[in-house]
Amino acid sequence: MKFNRLALTAALAAAFFSVPGAKAAPVDIGVVDDGGKAILGDADHGAIVFHKCMVCHSIQAGVNHIGPSLHGVVGRHSGSIANFHYSAANKNSGIVWTAQKIFVYLQAPQKMVPGTKMTFPGLPAAQDRADVIAYLEANSK
Ligand code: HEC
Repeated sequence: MKFNRLALTAALAAAFFSVPGAKAAPVDIGVVDDGGKAILGDADHGAIVFHKCMVCHSIQAGVNHIGPSLHGVVGRHSGSIANFHYSAANKNSGIVWTAQKIFVYLQAPQKMVPGTKMTFPGLPAAQDRADVIAYLEANSK
């Protein structure tokens, strides 16, 4: 009885949070936390987290706003969108945006790239960071 209640609650929660026809399972995006433990990324939840980035960024290729397009950013060299005017700090950082690098960056962008013009305080929750990276990857194909 108790189990059935739990199962029902889980099913209702899944139905409530799912995007119709597009529920993707969390995937291994190659990110580990401070303790070396893998954190899976949920692209569906990442789409919600991405609303915080959308003030400045588009996921569409070739579309720059206040920030550069984030289409294909995972694996990209920092400052490599030719028609976007980066800060010298970002452009000369020498960073290759692996999932792990973005994961650390998004916690405190100004800490990893001092002088960056990305005036975003960061995402404190590790899971939100992993989820938004899964979203970036899933929507860059
Ligand atoms: C207030 C505006 C703003 C917000 C919000 C913002 N960014 Fe940015 N972002 C920028 C700007 C501006 C740059 C360029 C930084 C520079 O040149 O110093 C940037 C750069 C980046 C870069 C480096 C890109 C490259 O080509 O080198 C990544 C990755 C990134 N942002 C991810 C994100 C993600 C993910 C979010 C949401 C969690 C986010 N940003 C939220 C403005 C913003």
